[in-house]
Amino acid sequence: AGEYKTDSERSFVMPDGMSRQLVGKIVQRFEERGFKLVAIKSLVPSQDLAKEHYEDLSARPFYAGLVKYITSGTPVVAMVWEGKDVIRQGRRIVGATNPQESDPGSIRGQYAVSVGRNLIHASDSFDAATKEIGLWFTESELPEYTLNLERTNA
Ligand code: TYD
Repeated sequence: AGEYKTDSERSFVMPDGMSRQLVGKIVQRFEERGFKLVAIKSLVPSQDLAKEHYEDLSARPFYAGLVKYITSGTPVVAMVWEGKDVIRQGRRIVGATNPQESDPGSIRGQYAVSVGRNLIHASDSFDAATKEIGLWFTESELPEYTLNLERTNA
């Protein structure tokens, strides 16, 4: 009972393709690990947003296909998670980029088979997290609040 204090580190996590119907399971993994959900919304990203999000990969051969895929009309789920070491731990929960290499206990390792449809994005550094959170969310969408784990039946 009482207050649950977390570090204030934040990561941007984005399951793509709501058609896989795995959003609940993905949210549950982060929640059960003890991370705090700061913000969540579904949207079909614009071309500009998708391109900016994947800007670092713009020279790679799969870039155009990646942008096309996430802007194709199926909503993605944009989430911000907060907690101690959440960027690094989030990457572990998500698993290696290529699902053939992902730990079977990770999200990609359990639910994905191909790198081009690896289900989910998670920030890979503090700088990436800062950029991505700012890109996908406005300040007013990112409340600061304290998890209070005390259960009441009031
Ligand atoms: P990347 O940032 O390298 O991996 P991660 O998502 O693990 O941070 O790549 C971003 C996405 O680009 C990746 O999740 C899926 C796609 N991608 C491909 O389609 N083909 C590839 O060969 C690679 C490396 C990535």
